[in-house]
Formats: sequence, C-alpha cells, structure tokens
Amino acid sequence: MEEINKELREIIRSLKGYMKAESLAGIEEFYLNPTVVHGDGVRPLAESLSLESLRNEVANCKLCPLYKTRKNPVFGNGSPKARLVFVGEAPGRDEDIQGLPFVGRAGELLTKIIEAMGLARRDVYICNILKCRPPENRNPLPTEIAACQEYLWQQLEVINPEVVCCLGKFACQVLLNQDLAITKLRGKFLDFRGIKVMPTFHPAYLLRNPGAKRLVWQDMQKIMKELKK
Ligand code: URA
Repeated sequence: MEEINKELREIIRSLKGYMKAESLAGIEEFYLNPTVVHGDGVRPLAESLSLESLRNEVANCKLCPLYKTRKNPVFGNGSPKARLVFVGEAPGRDEDIQGLPFVGRAGELLTKIIEAMGLARRDVYICNILKCRPPENRNPLPTEIAACQEYLWQQLEVINPEVVCCLGKFACQVLLNQDLAITKLRGKFLDFRGIKVMPTFHPAYLLRNPGAKRLVWQDMQKIMKELKK
C-alpha cells in the first residue's frame, strides 16, 4: 500500500509538472479521455487519441541512440485539429528540459510570429523533425532523421492540416526531399502528400539575421491568405 501511494504521489507530481509546462507554453486544454473541449463545445476526438498513442510510442522510442542522452522526448503540442502546422529541426536545451517544442529564445520569436498572424500557439500545432535533442545541438544525422521521420508523417496524417510551414533547411529537406538552399525554396508553396508546404527561415536564423524577418513575414502573409480561402 505504502509503495502504491508513493507511486501515485510520483505520478501526480509528474502530471502537475507537465501541466504547468504546457500552460507556460500557452496550452490551456489537456486531453485525458476521448472527449476534448474545443472552442465550440465538447466533442469526441479520435485524432487526439491517436496523437496520444503516438506520443506514448515516442516516449518509449529507442530507434536511434538519442534516447540515451535526451532528458525528455519532445513530441509536439498545440491543436490536434490545427489547420497550420509548424515543423522545426530538433529540440534544443530548453525543449529537452521541458519536453515541449520551441520554448527557448527561438520559440519566443516563433510565438510572436504566430501572434502577429492573429493566431495563438494553441490554434496551431508545433513539432520537429527529430523528437530528441542531438547532443550540443549538433545537426541531425541522416540515420536519426530516417529513424524519426515516420513519427512526423503519422502526426501529419492524424492532424491533416491545410498548410505546413517548414522552419529552416532540415525541415525543408526532409519534408520536400530536396537539397536546394532555403533562400531558393522559401516564399513559394510546395507539396507534401497533398498538403501545401511553405518553406521559410528558422526563427534561430532570424535571431542572428533580423533583416530576414521581413521575408518571413511575407511568407506568413501567403499562409494567412491561403488559410482564408
Ligand atoms: N529549434 C527547433 O528546431 N525546434 C525546437 O523545438 C526548438 C528550437
């Protein structure tokens, strides 16, 4: 009995930590069963269940060695019904600690971009190519990308967004399967399995090159126009 109580206390502590981190990231809804409060009321959401089972798979994933050095996997978060999904590269230090995508300095800038579009983080979905942090934030290895990409394909299949915004070179290479520089790719919609994909600069690049914010804003305006159709 004492052992079970201890375990329960541990679970409650982890849950509280998770919910606090989510609410700091602007997420106000928690999916604990097959219904979800979603703007216009409560309705069943098979999709959120599937995302949850994928999240569990990622939590136990050992397909590449990054599970050995990660603190937390970073599955992704936001609306399971999002019309717009942002895909970044891989979790950094802050994301690894909190288990949430884009919560460091680049994430703050991404949040500002989303808000400038008239949206909130909870309206969109945010995830990465890699679900675990590469040590010292090095670039993802092809073997890591190959091991992890199926999770992203499945996330996109469940969410079924109208637009995906690829943030930076790696997301573009993986989703669009091409090697062109982001400067050549950005600004035009491309296709991934029938979904419109807008390549743009990564927010971390914008922190180093603020002059490129103007171009990213042009790309975001194209996305906003597409979503209004
Ligand atoms: N950079 C990324 O590509 N993803 C994150 O989640 C954070 C920083």
